[in-house]
Amino acid sequence: MKSQDELGVAVPANKPLIVRTIKKVTKEQREYALKKTEYSMFSFPADLIFVDFLSDSGSGTMTDFQWAALFHGDESYARNKGYYVLLEAIRDTFERGNNPKRSINLILSGETNVKKLMDELYITTYEGGFVNGGIHQLTRPNAFIVPQGRCAEHLLFSTIAPILKQNKDIIYYIPNNGHFDTTEANIVANGIKAVNLFSGNLMDDFPYDEMDKRNPFKGNMDLRALENLIQEKGVEAIPLIYVTITNNTAAGQPVSMNNIKEVHKIAKKYNLPLFFDACRFSENANFIKEFEDGYKDRSIPIIVQEMFSYVDGFTISFKKDGLANMGGGFFFKDKGLFHKKFSINEDIGIKLKEKQILTFGNDSYGGMSGRDIMALAAGLYEVVKETYLNERKNQVREFARKLGQNGIPVILPAGGHAVYLNMNKFFEGTDMKIDDFGGVGFTIELLKHYGIRAVELGPFAFEWDKKTPEQRKGVLNLVRFAMPRNVYSASHIDYAVAAITEIYNNKDKIPKVKVSRGAELRLRHFQTGLQPIYKN
Ligand code: F0G
Repeated sequence: MKSQDELGVAVPANKPLIVRTIKKVTKEQREYALKKTEYSMFSFPADLIFVDFLSDSGSGTMTDFQWAALFHGDESYARNKGYYVLLEAIRDTFERGNNPKRSINLILSGETNVKKLMDELYITTYEGGFVNGGIHQLTRPNAFIVPQGRCAEHLLFSTIAPILKQNKDIIYYIPNNGHFDTTEANIVANGIKAVNLFSGNLMDDFPYDEMDKRNPFKGNMDLRALENLIQEKGVEAIPLIYVTITNNTAAGQPVSMNNIKEVHKIAKKYNLPLFFDACRFSENANFIKEFEDGYKDRSIPIIVQEMFSYVDGFTISFKKDGLANMGGGFFFKDKGLFHKKFSINEDIGIKLKEKQILTFGNDSYGGMSGRDIMALAAGLYEVVKETYLNERKNQVREFARKLGQNGIPVILPAGGHAVYLNMNKFFEGTDMKIDDFGGVGFTIELLKHYGIRAVELGPFAFEWDKKTPEQRKGVLNLVRFAMPRNVYSASHIDYAVAAITEIYNNKDKIPKVKVSRGAELRLRHFQTGLQPIYKN
């Protein structure tokens, strides 16, 4: 008899607790709704969709542990109990490796020993890490809770830009292995240039049957390009360096620990703060565990601890690897490089806190509800569990493998949270040109015929028509199928694979697309109207 492991199929990691019925919407009804919503994926009612791969953000299922925590949510205006629990959960997750304190259990177990609660949760002090505590968080704030990732980005860039602009002669550049669209938009909105340094092997072919054997870490930052940028523009023109884990803009590919270390070395050499965009930190850690030499026997929390030991701070959307419906944050090392560099006339943390209060609310809730704070704190413990992470990774991988087997040009190996199609290859042999926005036409057809929603991340989203020939080199032509966490099963994937294959086999019928309204808008893929042009 084969052992459990020898069966070659992963043991299930969870079972559903709540069921939501999908409505029987007809093709004609979807066609009508598409017309009335200007053919925009972002304007189409979610309730009319069978399988929604638009985003993995905030749309996941919460676990029973999270729901239990949610009931302990405290909506007090100042210093709700979840605030303390969340700060401890963040210290546990990013700094304590295999030795978490799990102070959340004090609340969930109904602890009534006041001395214990005060000593272990409410009246503690911390300094020197990403999350000062007690008096140090008051005098040198370095942890900022906000509603979502882009709020953290706004807080960071809108606060440092005026400090940088005091030197009027310098044009500033922030390099990243792949800026997410809101990160880039927040940087640009503050008069700083955003530079993508994708790994050179990103679009290389990879066999679908080798995804379990090796991984080329295509999400890495191009190290030589980073050195060149610093040399060319000068150290003073680079406020900080960003690394996004996993690299959403570069097909959701993971970043290796070795690459993180090498970027850290360069940052150290030039005395530049290194930051993570840490949205999918635990999924990235799981790739390091599976594929990087020396990490197989290390736990996810230990790998996460090492990853974060190389950075000076991070922004994060907890709507991804926090398993939360809402949440974001900005954290930087107490008395670290960022703190020194930007505390010119005033402590940078005090400045940031002022803006946080002005924009989002008191620092102990930062625009989140007490319920969301508790669900998020619990989620941070759920998201580093290997059984969960492996099931999720295998689900995305299986989706990519099935598409690959059907001859669909999918970017391989699969990334952590989504499957991406290479639309340049997809349209080979047709008359579709890059500025016909064929990827958008494909998503319209997929939604119209089969009730499946995906999103173009290519020439339309990244505004090909507004870019210079030089800038156009940095625009990939992809369509993304993002997998919400703990939501879909193999049947949803099989349905999607069959639908995608059918459209691929009829690709000459996919319409070209024109922007009918708002072509000039910023972040236009969320806002514009579209018009598909059918051939007959
Ligand atoms: N950084 C990355 C890498 C992201 O993927 C996202 C969001 C953000 C920052 C912004 O976070 O949405 O909480 O404000 N990505 C979602 C997606 C929206 O679908 O990829 P947010």
